[in-house]
Amino acid sequence: MPGTCVIGLQWGDEAKGKLVDLLTGDHDIVVRYAGGANAGHTVVSGGQTWKLSLIPSGILRDGVTCVVTGGVVLDPASAIAEIEGLEARGVRVDGTLLVSDRAHLVFPWHIEEDRILNAALSGGEAIGTTGRGIGPCYRDKVGRSLAIRLGDLYRDSFPAKLREIVAAKNRALAAWREGPPLDAAAIAADYARFAARLKPLVADTTAFLLDAVESGRRLLFEGAQGALLDVDHGTYPYVTSSNSSGVGVAAGAGVPGRWIDRVIGVIKAYSTRVGGGPLPTEQDNAVGQYLRDRGNEYGTVTRRPRRCGWFDAVAVRYTARLSGVDELAVMLLDVLGGLDEIRVCTAYEIDGRRVTQFPSHVDDVRKAVPIYETLPGWKGEIGAVRDHAALPREARDYLARLAELLGRPVTIASVGPDRDQTMFMPSGGPRPCPRAPSTTPAST
Ligand code: GDP
Ligand code: IMO
Ligand code: MG
Repeated sequence: MPGTCVIGLQWGDEAKGKLVDLLTGDHDIVVRYAGGANAGHTVVSGGQTWKLSLIPSGILRDGVTCVVTGGVVLDPASAIAEIEGLEARGVRVDGTLLVSDRAHLVFPWHIEEDRILNAALSGGEAIGTTGRGIGPCYRDKVGRSLAIRLGDLYRDSFPAKLREIVAAKNRALAAWREGPPLDAAAIAADYARFAARLKPLVADTTAFLLDAVESGRRLLFEGAQGALLDVDHGTYPYVTSSNSSGVGVAAGAGVPGRWIDRVIGVIKAYSTRVGGGPLPTEQDNAVGQYLRDRGNEYGTVTRRPRRCGWFDAVAVRYTARLSGVDELAVMLLDVLGGLDEIRVCTAYEIDGRRVTQFPSHVDDVRKAVPIYETLPGWKGEIGAVRDHAALPREARDYLARLAELLGRPVTIASVGPDRDQTMFMPSGGPRPCPRAPSTTPAST
């Protein structure tokens, strides 16, 4: 059975990178299929920390092929810097990493446009993008006339196409900012260098992955961002520009959904969000600061402090269903240690009505007042625990309650950043976690 996917069910940074690294040993190929250098995935092992952005988190394990597909928007300068950083630490990518010739390229104008447009919205609330050119690159991809894909760099038509696009971009940018125009010749020279470095990695990854699944090779799909940042199904417009929930895997990878037989939903034991947009359970108080301090909640890419709050079962039950999640991995459980009590949002009150369905309009999400259930906390650190049965009873009860509220078993729990600080409970822990029918509202 070939395909597993790892999908973040919140607003990103759920520790997908840690989980992908752990699961890589059971797979032949790790696939990054959406997003770009806005992602920051962390793997910690043997006292060493690895920050991955465009390169799949499987790259640290031997004998695995890593693939970046056409669903990714590729900033070649970032990709090469990341590759060189890995090589400097002894991780080889040549012969291991493939990059799709269909991947759209991020150019300097995308990064400029991202910064300009993000600031332009700050009269209301800015999206607070990562400034990596993600939105403008996806916009040009869909618009088609101003887009360049990796495969285009190797065609004779590339210099003329680039000149034409730079001229159009200079006209558009002049309306937004002062300063020197973009220099087509300098950009062409940079991208010629990038093309030469990336050439050994470039492949038709769609054909490669279709051959792989048809010959029974096991694929691991690495989600980026989180399902609530999905451009179609998240808290629009406070989202990223790709389908970051489970529904985006097939389109981004070029592998039909029928090849995916295991979907792992990754959640933090609480909520975080970086950037703008509503976070109904946000704790802009001592609890939020406690979580930020203990969870080291500062953005991997931008170092911005992450907004922190209680776990939101309304939002995650929605994204677990949307993403077709079979089982849950609860990460950063240790961060909750030391709190007297822990709250979980089980419903919202919106305009005086009790709501258990995650609203489709961001204004209603903004209005949502969380209705909480309170569970007892636990004392002491759990970072050294490796066996679910050895967790404090309150921590086990917390996991069981999340499973109940979300209607899926918790099969993995993480109690620290290191690879080793993880426990696997294939049968979903000692408590039965019956799967709720998809229409059952979250209980309160
Ligand atoms: P990703 O984007 O989903 O891969 O997540 P990030 O790497 O951006 O953020 C997760 C952070 O939590 C990283 O700094 C990890 O090293 C760290 N981390 C992962 N699992 C745990 C855990 O169980 N406990 C704690 N305290 N930290 C963890
Ligand atoms: P990983 O893969 C957390 C957020 C940004 C911003 C919004 C749009 O590490 O979980 P963008 O630059 O994509 O146009 O920004 O999405 N965002 C993330 N937040 N983790 C991420 O990735 C994110 N990628 C984008 O902060 O609010
Ligand atoms: Mg991250």
